[in-house]
Amino acid sequence: MNTEPLSSSKPRPSLLRNWLSLFGLIIVAGGLFSFTLLALVDSMSRSANPYIGILTYVVAPVFLLMGLAVTVVGAWRERRKLGQSAGLLPAIVVDLTRPRDRRILGYFVACSLFFLLLSAIGSYHTYNLTESVSFCGRACHTVMKPELTAYEHGPHARVSCVECHIGKGATWFVRSKLSGTYQLYATAFDKYPRPIPTPIQNLRPAQETCEQCHWPSKFVGNLQRTYNFFQGDATNSPYTLSLLIKVGGGDPTHGPTGGIHWHMNVGNKVEYVATDPGRQDIPWVRITDQQGVVTVYHTKTYTNTPAASDVRLMDCMDCHNRPAHKFMSPDDAVDLAMSLPHEIDPQLPWIKTNAVDVLTQPYTNTTQAVEFIATALSNRYPQARNDEKFKETITAVQQIYRDNFFPEMKADWRAYPDNIGHKDWPGCFRCHDGNHVTDDGKRTIKASDCNACHVILAQGTGPDLLKMTPAGQEFKHPGGDYDHTCNECHNGAL
Ligand code: HEC
Ligand code: HEC
Ligand code: HEC
Ligand code: HEC
Ligand code: HEC
Ligand code: HEC
Repeated sequence: MNTEPLSSSKPRPSLLRNWLSLFGLIIVAGGLFSFTLLALVDSMSRSANPYIGILTYVVAPVFLLMGLAVTVVGAWRERRKLGQSAGLLPAIVVDLTRPRDRRILGYFVACSLFFLLLSAIGSYHTYNLTESVSFCGRACHTVMKPELTAYEHGPHARVSCVECHIGKGATWFVRSKLSGTYQLYATAFDKYPRPIPTPIQNLRPAQETCEQCHWPSKFVGNLQRTYNFFQGDATNSPYTLSLLIKVGGGDPTHGPTGGIHWHMNVGNKVEYVATDPGRQDIPWVRITDQQGVVTVYHTKTYTNTPAASDVRLMDCMDCHNRPAHKFMSPDDAVDLAMSLPHEIDPQLPWIKTNAVDVLTQPYTNTTQAVEFIATALSNRYPQARNDEKFKETITAVQQIYRDNFFPEMKADWRAYPDNIGHKDWPGCFRCHDGNHVTDDGKRTIKASDCNACHVILAQGTGPDLLKMTPAGQEFKHPGGDYDHTCNECHNGAL
């Protein structure tokens, strides 16, 4: 048997000359070609198209790398085969005095530089692409349509998705790309939940997202807000309410502390335990004040000592949980449209009730809903059919549906409670319901006092609305006397 190494004067057999490596090289060439072509198309098209982006910066590089891997595996197998049949392969000798070696080295360096440059451009674009609103919102259009639509109508429409969902820092970047990879898979294979569950577990803490733009020490002061309600009767009786909301602040260097943002006092710490995944049931609350005094409030039925892992530190998102994706309840959306010109005509008898009714029917898709809304309303107002104002009404109701209801994803106000306020969801009353007391029963979280969080400046209609009372008025409930919490009757459709 010949154990002598192959003579170095003979040309070294190419390890790439085998079917597997050849196949790999074809994939590499294909990947490179499509990457170049797609990158050109992408840079020339005016608007960012997430699909081209995904093909260029995710799919093409994956093929390129796969091709390279196959080539290397082929070469490795070839090397083992050669080693077995011809004994030991010669050691690689690079001799720069030989022109052939210099040429090969030159090619190698040039190709590596080119490849490095290409991957630098590629990764930069991949990074930008996966951080863009159009990638987050549009690429998976059925999945993200509800959040994207609500986002575009919200106050944060100019803030990109990643600024709240990812933020700065390498660990969150890696985490988000890892979960993002899973999400790409879940979308491609239709494995995602409908509706997408809320709240997001392990959302980046507010200090690192919201507080980059709205710092908690900023004193907000009082906010005045006017609500135009319409009741569900024949004349759609209007009822207007003007609230002065005591938002306040939590930092003595920026203004008096107190009011609603007191929870965010830089010195206080409010923690709580929720017993449901949606954080709607809060039986246990703990405050640690500036002096370090700890007070625990709990409901009568909740007497356990909670595990540390169940305790959540209250932050912005516990109240502002829909800052970017608010799905309006049909009640609020119809009230708003009725108060605006050229939308829902408040002169149509029973239109408040009828509009809410057609919006809340069970539909399987948006097209069906929009058609049904038009026919059902036309049937209910046969005499108004050709009226210009009635046509505007139908269009407005259909638009409310398109903006706030997503039957394909089972997403609407029912799936996504809003924790600001207390009318349609428990909201503030999750803690401020009068049932949270200290162990000795002496202290309760403020509840019954309707003026603790806001004062009613004016309410009613017509002349009543001109009677402004800075000290606050007692609430004259349009629905008559009530002795329950608001959301036991009001659910967004009443
Ligand atoms: C101003 C900050 C902000 C921006 C901008 C933002 N989000 Fe959100 N998003 C949130 C918060 C807060 C939640 C609710 C988190 C919670 O309750 O745990 C949320 C929830 C979600 C959810 C979970 C389902 C749900 O509705 O609760 C998805 C999906 C989502 N956002 C997608 C997006 C997409 C896509 C964009 C960009 C088009 C975007 N978000 C932009 C703050 C933001
Ligand atoms: C990149 C900056 C940025 C980030 C991050 C951000 N916001 Fe905002 N926020 C804004 C801007 C800009 C506005 C609009 C201000 C205006 O129109 O007066 C706004 C408005 C608001 C408003 C008033 C909404 C209204 O109805 O007028 C609230 C409340 C709010 N943000 C809460 C949050 C919360 C909670 C978060 C974290 C989940 C957050 N923001 C993250 C920039 C940001
Ligand atoms: C206890 C609940 C609660 C917490 C916690 C909370 N807020 Fe608020 N915030 C409110 C309420 C209620 C308002 C009044 C406006 C409203 O109803 O939307 C408000 C108003 C605001 C406004 C002014 C909105 C405007 O229309 O001008 C901003 C900005 C804001 N909050 C940001 C934050 C940020 C940032 C945090 C976290 C550091 C935070 N809030 C924590 C309840 C809360
Ligand atoms: C997780 C429970 C929890 C939630 C949710 C909550 N609060 Fe509070 N809140 C507290 C606790 C605890 C206190 C302090 C009670 C005490 O010791 O006097 C407090 C105090 C307050 C105070 C009095 C601050 C002061 O100046 O002393 C206001 C105003 C207030 N909350 C408004 C709100 C509003 C508005 C909401 C809803 C947007 C809300 N809270 C949601 C737990 C909560
Ligand atoms: C813990 C604080 C708090 C207490 C106590 C409280 N409210 Fe409110 N209330 C709010 C907040 C916050 C909002 C929502 C502001 C907004 O729209 O952003 C609100 C909104 C309202 C509205 C407007 C309806 C709507 O569509 O949201 C009415 C009416 C109202 N409150 C009545 C009352 C009455 C009556 C009481 C006494 C039983 C009361 N509130 C006690 C915090 C409170
Ligand atoms: C016992 C059930 C019940 C309770 C509890 C209740 N309401 Fe109502 N509310 C009604 C009814 C019924 C109407 C009349 C509805 C209509 O005509 O559309 C009404 C009407 C209203 C309206 C007028 C506009 C509209 O949306 O229909 C407001 C605002 C309102 N309620 C706020 C509240 C607030 C805030 C609370 C809690 C402090 C509350 N309600 C508690 C049953 C209730």
